[in-house]
Amino acid sequence: MQEKRGFWGSRVSFIMAVVGSAVGLGNVWRFPYICYENGGGAFLIPFVVAMLTAGIPLMILEFGLGHKMGLAAPMAFAEIRKKYEWLGWFAVLVGLMVMTYYGVIMGWCFRYLAYSINLQWGADPATFFNQDFLHLSSGIGDLGGIVWYILLGLFLCWACVFFCIIKGVDSVGKVVMLTVPVPVAILVIFIIRGVTLPGAVDGLAYYLTPDFSKLLEPKVWLAAYGQVFFSLSIGFGVMIAYASFLPRDSDITNNAVISSLSDAGISFMSGFAVFSALGYLAHTTGGSVSNVLNHGPGLAFVTFPTIINNLPFWASAFGLLFFMLLLTLGIDSAFSLVEAGVAGAIDKWKTPRVIVNGIVSFAAFIIGVIYTTNAGLYWLDIIDYYFTSYGLALVGILECIVLGYVYGTRRIREHVNKTSDFKIGIWWDICIKYITPAMLIWMFIQTARELISNPYSGYPAWAQCVGGWGLLIFMIVFAIVLSLFKSRDGKEI
Ligand code: ALA
Repeated sequence: MQEKRGFWGSRVSFIMAVVGSAVGLGNVWRFPYICYENGGGAFLIPFVVAMLTAGIPLMILEFGLGHKMGLAAPMAFAEIRKKYEWLGWFAVLVGLMVMTYYGVIMGWCFRYLAYSINLQWGADPATFFNQDFLHLSSGIGDLGGIVWYILLGLFLCWACVFFCIIKGVDSVGKVVMLTVPVPVAILVIFIIRGVTLPGAVDGLAYYLTPDFSKLLEPKVWLAAYGQVFFSLSIGFGVMIAYASFLPRDSDITNNAVISSLSDAGISFMSGFAVFSALGYLAHTTGGSVSNVLNHGPGLAFVTFPTIINNLPFWASAFGLLFFMLLLTLGIDSAFSLVEAGVAGAIDKWKTPRVIVNGIVSFAAFIIGVIYTTNAGLYWLDIIDYYFTSYGLALVGILECIVLGYVYGTRRIREHVNKTSDFKIGIWWDICIKYITPAMLIWMFIQTARELISNPYSGYPAWAQCVGGWGLLIFMIVFAIVLSLFKSRDGKEI
């Protein structure tokens, strides 16, 4: 018997699920260092521009599409024209690829949660993280072996994801009632703790002092758009899937604006927690904030443990809280990425949820094994860069073209306005048809040109291909293949 698709229990559970998906590791782990690397306070300008010209309009677009069609991304695009179904799959695959490494970071958090009890990372968390924990190899081609406890952490993460979405919107609606407020409360504790530490002001000045010269660099703008896409979980098919479970008379625009602003606000708040703590670290070690800042995952697994070591009291309690923060932040983003694919496959093949969930989770878990090797951190870094910069930008450009020109923004606008309190005007069509794609295409080309002369992070050409361009092209081909399979009822839409 075919399972019922189901609806969100209430508006609150939908908003919580959307905010849960949007607010994730990206807010604490990614936003502060992306902000700092791209002009500090000045980065807030491209970030706000990206939020207004792409983030909120695309959120409305994805909500509108999912709600209008009542289907997750692949079949929603197939409703427009069968030949665009692949775009829905591509979005979903980009999300699943992100989830393959997102799960590993959560796996690390499980282990670090245990380390927090007796501050097992010791006096030198950087050496501990790279050597004792990751057993990092000499380069991306030197895989070495699998680190068994990271594999176990990855498995634990996937088990949690599997159970959180086991009943679709029913189980997700319940889980997010806990996984959204808990990390926000923990974050507030960290902000209060951070800003009351000596040296916090220097850290905050570092975070917020603008370097306007950065605004002339295209890569800063691409970083802002990439961060907005990543942070709002748009371009992954998540919002299309989530909105497809909304009852017919639901408000779209307000929900999109509330969710986007909550996410931006939490990112900004996280910056306060992170940079005040960095200021404190610089103060206690006698260095400068730029010296103590560790980019990427190192921020969470090197810098924070160092800060925790230096706290005057309750160090291990703050350690536990910090990794709880990351886990509770991450889990609802993680399962939303998976749910986008699971809901898409169920719509198409009508396969029982538990089977699709099992297959998707298992396949993505297996792919994730690469990050549990001694070269895992390098692979994570390169795949994160290509998928969140180019993969998401590509999905964004194509969404704007297909929905803006083939389907027509007017049809979605009229649909959205029918049920929303706040009516969107022609400005929205202009964003989707001209501003967002123009910005994205321009930045995509500029950054790709720069990348050709200056390969990302100096990785060898074969790795740039396998973990970057090649993998993206493979995903496009795979998406096309998935779209060519007949749907369960054999109907060519
Ligand atoms: N939106 C999720 C995050 O920010 C993926 O981490």
